[in-house]
Amino acid sequence: MTDSTNERNQYLCPNFKLMFSANDFIPSPYSHSIETGKFQWSSPSNIALVKYWGKKDKQIPANPSVSFTLNNCKTITKLAFAKKQNQDTFSFDLLFEGKPKEDFKPKIQQFFERVLVYLPFLKKYQFTIDTQNTFPHSSGIASSASGIAALAMNLMSLEKALNPEMTEDYFYQKASFLARLGSGSACRSVKGKVVVWGEHKNIQGSSDLFGVQFSNAIHDNFKNFQDTILLVDKGEKQVSSSVGHNLMNGHLFAERRFEQAHENLEKLIQVFESGNLDEFITIVESEALTLHSMMMTSIPYFILMKPNTLEIINAIWKFRNETKIPVCFTLDAGANVHVLYPENTKESVLQFIKDELVDYCQNGQYICDEIGIGSIEN
Ligand code: PMV
Repeated sequence: MTDSTNERNQYLCPNFKLMFSANDFIPSPYSHSIETGKFQWSSPSNIALVKYWGKKDKQIPANPSVSFTLNNCKTITKLAFAKKQNQDTFSFDLLFEGKPKEDFKPKIQQFFERVLVYLPFLKKYQFTIDTQNTFPHSSGIASSASGIAALAMNLMSLEKALNPEMTEDYFYQKASFLARLGSGSACRSVKGKVVVWGEHKNIQGSSDLFGVQFSNAIHDNFKNFQDTILLVDKGEKQVSSSVGHNLMNGHLFAERRFEQAHENLEKLIQVFESGNLDEFITIVESEALTLHSMMMTSIPYFILMKPNTLEIINAIWKFRNETKIPVCFTLDAGANVHVLYPENTKESVLQFIKDELVDYCQNGQYICDEIGIGSIEN
């Protein structure tokens, strides 16, 4: 981009910044001080339509992704803080559903280490992080996206107290930047309803550093889109997502896959505008199966679907063929199935789930969710 185009864009839209670097998130000395306090934020989970799978150094995605932010599956986190004497080390207590949870601490410690340069106050306070999920623990639903996003929001509230001049744009952008450093897809849980993370040539403002709200036109067909999560297997993940991302290094099909993600996102831009649900279904289901194909064709290889995952997929295809109702599935890096459908088909699809899919769920469990607006302070 030439200098004159650059200037023109900034003239047309003064808040529009063309390039960000991580250094933009290193704060200047704070203008205020604060001794103690507490904040509370809730952050939702999100479901990717174009998947992030594979990363470059420092939580930089190998390809852009896009997700629907969810509404009901949330983490609610209270952050209490008090200035401390010894300012050489991190000091925090972690409560999960009211009880100390030692095994979550290393992940938070690692997160604090990664973001210290961007939040230099972290060693100055004793923190109590008190967190709970609205969805059942060990349901196989990843809580890292919502959990890390909720923590990042709270830390930004503290930074805003230290620097009240901070703009709202910077607040949310930095929250997403920090969340990304904790768990990549967490950066898409800061805002709603459709969030893009990773640079894409035709999405203005898209960045590898943080998630941005998809600001192009979105057809009414996607308004209040529904996501019913069928809990097929609630066990521990067979492959952690960091191991999974690493499997894309040197993967035989990696480069073509990364290009395909760009192409699918390009197609989705049109689909969001036109409301073409058939196209939507093709892209979303293909993305889910590609994600799993990548795992099946890596070395070592994994099959993360269970027999019931396939039963559900086949039942959805049969139902869709017979009824012409535009319902489809997507998958995370696990066996659970996200059933996606427009709001105006809710009654029929829920009936179908109760009649034909519940038997494939562990203990008959499923969670009804829908598109949501993102993190909120409460
Ligand atoms: O955010 P991570 O590192 O847990 O990776 C998430 C990867 C997928 O859920 C499989 C895809 C995605 O884009 O959310």
